[in-house]
Amino acid sequence: MIRKAVLPVAGLGTRCLPASKAIPKEMMTVVDRPVIQWVVEEAIASGITEIILVTHSAKKAIEDHFDVHYELETELEKRGKTDALKALRELLPDSVRVISVRQGRALGLGHAILCAKAVVGDEPFAVLLPDVLVAAEKDQPQADLKQLCARYEGSGKAQILVDAVPTDQVDQYGIAELMQGCELARGEGIGLRSVIEKPSPALAPSNLAVVGRYVLPAEIFSYLEKTRPGAGNEIQLTDALDALLQSKGAEAYCMQGRTYDCGNKLGYLRATLAYARDHAELGDGFMRLLDEIQRPL
Ligand code: G1P
Repeated sequence: MIRKAVLPVAGLGTRCLPASKAIPKEMMTVVDRPVIQWVVEEAIASGITEIILVTHSAKKAIEDHFDVHYELETELEKRGKTDALKALRELLPDSVRVISVRQGRALGLGHAILCAKAVVGDEPFAVLLPDVLVAAEKDQPQADLKQLCARYEGSGKAQILVDAVPTDQVDQYGIAELMQGCELARGEGIGLRSVIEKPSPALAPSNLAVVGRYVLPAEIFSYLEKTRPGAGNEIQLTDALDALLQSKGAEAYCMQGRTYDCGNKLGYLRATLAYARDHAELGDGFMRLLDEIQRPL
């Protein structure tokens, strides 16, 4: 059973400025809740009960968001605002704990994951990169993260969620080299030959990009400890994964859902539109608004 998930949230969010100057980019709102809450909900829906935030002193709002706000709850209670109170109290199920550790220096994603070593201990864990929202399609039988967890439990091998991207974008991602071929159907998994961080299109072994959801064995920490700075002069998770898979194996799994990259402005707008359209309470009203706004004001 995969119980723990590491969410690296220490990044400065330079691609979202000026919005992310005084609030963490993970606290930007998609419809009615911060991006980070959507990601935590995704983890919980896949059975995670321990959320480990790898954070930074400038990003306290994220920890506060998942903490109890006693004064606010008392005030809402006093004023009889039961719906708002219920929404606050249901933000995290009682069975879920949120723990935070600090990444004082921005040395890369691999270094961020290594900061969680003592809290993860000796068990497999999930990693969710909170820039990216992953939503299931309506007819999808199981969420992609849940699939990754089940596949790990079946094979004991590291699992990496991938999705096809346009060839001219491969240099923005970790790229998978498969054991056989260079294509993968949705919902299919296969052994990995290697992973390479942000290759040039000419050198990319496929267009299958690492989308930011992983299930990893605790052994990854010993590989991370040996990983030297790579692409962008940062300690890359992809490089540690590549070393791990050369001796222990790892698998790529092609996602069935959709990703929304909230780490850039247009991606964030796309996420907002899609999540508003699919929102249980606001969806219909939002679609009417969209219709209205296309007519001259
Ligand atoms: C990180 C990972 C990369 C992955 C990407 C997904 O890169 O290093 O392998 O494909 O997230 O969003 P970053 O976007 O932090 O540069």
